[in-house]
Amino acid sequence: MVPVLIKDLLASAPDGRKVTVCGWVRTVRDSKGLVFIQVNDGSCFANIQLTFDRNNPSNNANVNEIEEELKKLNTGASVRAEGLLIESPASGQAVEVTLESLKCLGQANPDEYPLQKNKMSMEYLRDNAHLRARTNTFGAVYRMRNQMAFAVHSFFQERGFQYINAPEITCSDCEGAGEMFQVTTLSLEKIAEMGVKAGQGGMKIEDAHKIIDYSKDFFGKKASLTVSGQLEAETLATALSRVYTFGPTFRAENSNTPRHLAEFWMIEPEMAFFDLNDDMDIQEDFVKYLLNWALTKCREDLAFFDKRIQPGLIESLEKVAKAKFTRISYTQAIEDLEKAAANGAKFEFKPYWGCDIATEHERYLTEKIYNGPVMVFNYPKEIKSFYMKQNDDGKTVKAVDVLVPGIGELIGGSEREEDYGKLKAEIERRGMDESIYDWYLDLRKFGTVPHSGFGLGFERLLRYVTGMDNIRDVIPYPRAPKLADF
Ligand code: 4AD
Ligand code: MG
Repeated sequence: MVPVLIKDLLASAPDGRKVTVCGWVRTVRDSKGLVFIQVNDGSCFANIQLTFDRNNPSNNANVNEIEEELKKLNTGASVRAEGLLIESPASGQAVEVTLESLKCLGQANPDEYPLQKNKMSMEYLRDNAHLRARTNTFGAVYRMRNQMAFAVHSFFQERGFQYINAPEITCSDCEGAGEMFQVTTLSLEKIAEMGVKAGQGGMKIEDAHKIIDYSKDFFGKKASLTVSGQLEAETLATALSRVYTFGPTFRAENSNTPRHLAEFWMIEPEMAFFDLNDDMDIQEDFVKYLLNWALTKCREDLAFFDKRIQPGLIESLEKVAKAKFTRISYTQAIEDLEKAAANGAKFEFKPYWGCDIATEHERYLTEKIYNGPVMVFNYPKEIKSFYMKQNDDGKTVKAVDVLVPGIGELIGGSEREEDYGKLKAEIERRGMDESIYDWYLDLRKFGTVPHSGFGLGFERLLRYVTGMDNIRDVIPYPRAPKLADF
């Protein structure tokens, strides 16, 4: 018989019917012949309690079997139990199960099982990432991850967007930052060997790259893992009108921070006939929709995060879900920061017009000045990507970042340059290889339209809604510099 999930058992009436419970033991307690077993199956935060009264077992209880199996139970063991679903006399739970039969499916030797009851550090749990989903914290994180993914699809599907998939392997560099992981089947050892041989023959170091012949590589040219699905999303938005991607993206930035991953999931909507203001409106709606979803559908897990991980979390999410997001130009943001610096605010990087807004600045704007989410728009074109629509001032582009308290940048987006001549000139000005972007320029050559889009980092969102300190703890298997275990 397929067991009923514990979340459904806990929500049902204690009518004394026979039920099957399957899961992993959290605790076993024996108090004067009364045995309590807490079992969790990850379907919800709460455990179900199995009880066995040695002095007064239930009529149909298989007492000998239960006693034998109880000897095998420790934290971490897996069980299949049958019993009667009754009202719980104990406070804190509505129902419990009086044992009739018990089977330990797999023991967990307490001398070896890495998850013991005493408090474990996040670092320790990261080293045991294959088991950490069995803890309260990570069960809650992964359930919220599931709910937020569902919320993403729900938001866009309700609004007529079509879900599309951009390739993971690409020859273009959307963000132009050169932070790509190369994908190759060429043998590095063989190339190194050829280099050594050539060196002996007097080859100069600056000619070494000539040894690599990409026409012999798998794709016949240099390829990488994508940093963003945006460029391909634009090709579909200029046919299907409103689309979104939701998939993994990769960045080889050497950032060992609690905000960066080398492999992260991004949601990238792209909308034809949207200008920057329309883009900002839907970004604000999207973030609020996600927060409201978390607040209504993840109550039990949120209560845990609020109590144990970040006190005040629920209240702050509720506040942001109702607030109007502040919208300021980049120029205004820099003026605010310069003023703050003049009045004694301590920044590692001095803010000035033209600088990239650093995390410390983002947090100062959201936490100290505006006390809530801030959308910063019209950035200097030199610090942004080639595809952004140029403003008439010749200095700025129609870019926007959404900054939120505690996290900094959650979303990056822009209106796209739809003018063929301007985009081509920008590609040339930046010294980019034009032959790689001919298809992208075609969108501006044939039936070009104003269009906009943005990217939201899924793990940044999860950090925000769970209050978890480190981005490595909101994805099952984090990838970061020197970290690719499991
Ligand atoms: O600001 P970014 O680089 O923008 C783009 O990639 C655009 N192509 C998006 C678009 O307009 N379609 O990245 C977007 C978001 C950031 O705001 C951040 O939330 C997240 O992706 N992000 C990261 N998350 C985790 N680890 C990293 N290394 C990240 N880099 C960016
Ligand atoms: Mg960005």
